[in-house]
Amino acid sequence: MLQFDVVTIFPAMFDAVAEAGVIGRARDKGIYQLIAWNPRDFAQNAYRTVDDRPYGGGPGMVMMAEPLSRAVVAAKQRQQSAGVRKSRVIHLTPQGRLLNHQVVMELAVQQGLVLVAGRYEGVDERVTREIDDEISIGDYVLSGGELAAMVLIDCIVRQLPGVLGDADSAVQDSFVNGLLDCPHYTRPETYDGQKVPQVLLSGNHADIGRWRLKQALGRTWQRRPDLLEKRVLSADERKLLEEFKQELSGV
Ligand code: ADE
Repeated sequence: MLQFDVVTIFPAMFDAVAEAGVIGRARDKGIYQLIAWNPRDFAQNAYRTVDDRPYGGGPGMVMMAEPLSRAVVAAKQRQQSAGVRKSRVIHLTPQGRLLNHQVVMELAVQQGLVLVAGRYEGVDERVTREIDDEISIGDYVLSGGELAAMVLIDCIVRQLPGVLGDADSAVQDSFVNGLLDCPHYTRPETYDGQKVPQVLLSGNHADIGRWRLKQALGRTWQRRPDLLEKRVLSADERKLLEEFKQELSGV
């Protein structure tokens, strides 16, 4: 069972992940466990202060090192008693390395993850000692790391064995093979005058597989050419992409 511990001053935000959809069901099935730790419970004074003004002046507040560090230590100890040999402590911050499918797969094989969600303008730099890794979910700033931590939990959990019903639905996702996903259709056969592509009704699984790969290649070429530059295409894939381009130009 993958152990998640989240350090956050808003533990209730994480109820959202645990309750809905496949990720909620995975928790009920015992595929992962999620425990939240509030740095306020580790604060030193009666006011349970977790933030203070920045040295050097300037706007906003900074999260204090001590309550955060103590919460991280408690989370690691809990994971250890749950059988985790080595916890990985991840700070969610716009300064971290960018999250992508490779990073998700790297984290999905860990036994225990401690996610540190900062608030305010940032966290005291000296917490770094407790941190193994820093991850950003994109080049924009959220008001706290909580949503980023939830994004991380969601995309990791859906990769764990037994979470998605159809054994290979995670395998067919966008990015898994370095391409965007192909288009999907369901009933009715004609919607608003638009027909489902004939090949999908043919029952010929080889043809359907080639069509889907062609569409995936074509969409990636149209929408995310940067992904194609990073990926070597086989001779067959190059041919399918050429076909896609020709069909597009109406040849
Ligand atoms: N905290 C604030 N913004 C963030 C981002 N983009 N990614 C991860 N954590 C964050």
